[in-house]
Amino acid sequence: MKRFAALRTLTRLGAVLGAAAIAGAQSSPATMKAVRIHEHGDVSVLRYEDAPIPELGPADLLVRVHAAGVNPVDWKFRTGAFRMPGAAFPATLGFDVSGVIERVGPQVTKFKPGDEVYAYLNLQKGGGYAQFAAVAESEAALKPRSIDHIHAGATPLAALTAWQALIDTAGLRADQTVLIHAAAGGVGHFAVQIAKAKGARVVATASERNHAFLKDLGADVVVDYRTQRFEDFAKNVDVVLDAVGGDTQARSYAVLKPGGILVSIVQPPNQARLDEHNIRGAVILVKPAGSQLVLIAEMIDAGQIKPHVSATFPLEQAADAQRAVETGSTRGKIVLTVP
Ligand SMILES: NC(=O)c1ccc[n+]([C@@H]2O[C@H](COP(=O)([O-])OP(=O)(O)OC[C@H]3O[C@@H](n4cnc5c(N)ncnc54)[C@H](OP(=O)(O)O)[C@@H]3O)[C@@H](O)[C@H]2O)c1
Repeated sequence: MKRFAALRTLTRLGAVLGAAAIAGAQSSPATMKAVRIHEHGDVSVLRYEDAPIPELGPADLLVRVHAAGVNPVDWKFRTGAFRMPGAAFPATLGFDVSGVIERVGPQVTKFKPGDEVYAYLNLQKGGGYAQFAAVAESEAALKPRSIDHIHAGATPLAALTAWQALIDTAGLRADQTVLIHAAAGGVGHFAVQIAKAKGARVVATASERNHAFLKDLGADVVVDYRTQRFEDFAKNVDVVLDAVGGDTQARSYAVLKPGGILVSIVQPPNQARLDEHNIRGAVILVKPAGSQLVLIAEMIDAGQIKPHVSATFPLEQAADAQRAVETGSTRGKIVLTVP
């Protein structure tokens, strides 16, 4: 009798636990914490608040975000300096995520729930400063195995920008020299490492406090742009990566050899100046590319690229993180950690 009673109790317990497990598997929470803006403005417009879990398209992944990289475009969008066509309020900020797939849409073929992925979300969509993000399958790649979510979350937008500028646009080769401006920043520190991995010679600009950092990353020559003229160190270069613009861009035409190329990520080069020096120029806007993130993950796992994170902030302190990025003096990247 006693044995049957114990069995009945166990069976009932099992049924209750089973039901709970199934309910847990089926019911994602309806809301999540996110950092959103309801209008453009200074950091006071950032609201850490409840928001609906993003809806999934058929080819989307629902990613439980562990870390979200902070980029200058985040605060530029917050202030309205960078306008995103189609963006509607309230808008969840953030374009970089690393996390674990919770659910997938019916057309997804490359990923499954439980996969660890990293992604740069389309600039029209955003939504990385949140507990969950909807990520198009084409934007994502498996997270590099050798690094944690914080370093993976630091990587996508900045590394893709460096890749698309140096490889896709400039076609950088091993026998070439590249001048990289703002080399210690988010884009710059990836650019130095990608250029070195391709075998190119790198001249990098940064303030003196970042010189040892850049030497460690492999830069061949480091110029203190505050006290030295980069023209004295970079002559007849094949490629300039301009992440500064203004006077820095204006002075960069003259250091390129005929046929060389100036790729800017901040402002279009002046066609008359390009013609005058018989050089080429381009301005690019980074595009999501899961396939390139696969290649970048391989380089990270091979030890060729190391994302550098100089600070992390919890999601609810996104305002502090953006203030830090807005100073324009970040070494590597700043990342939000997501509960
Ligand atoms: N077009 C695109 O698709 C695209 C994509 C990504 C970024 N961007 C833009 O590109 C720019 C750079 O982005 P990021 O993420 O690399 O920014 P970031 O991480 O904030 O860059 C900070 C770095 O810039 C350096 N710096 C500032 N002024 C400099 C100067 N005059 N010369 C040399 N270095 C200087 C600082 O070095 P020191 O502290 O040593 O001075 C710092 O390490 C931003 O304006 C961003 O909005 C555009």
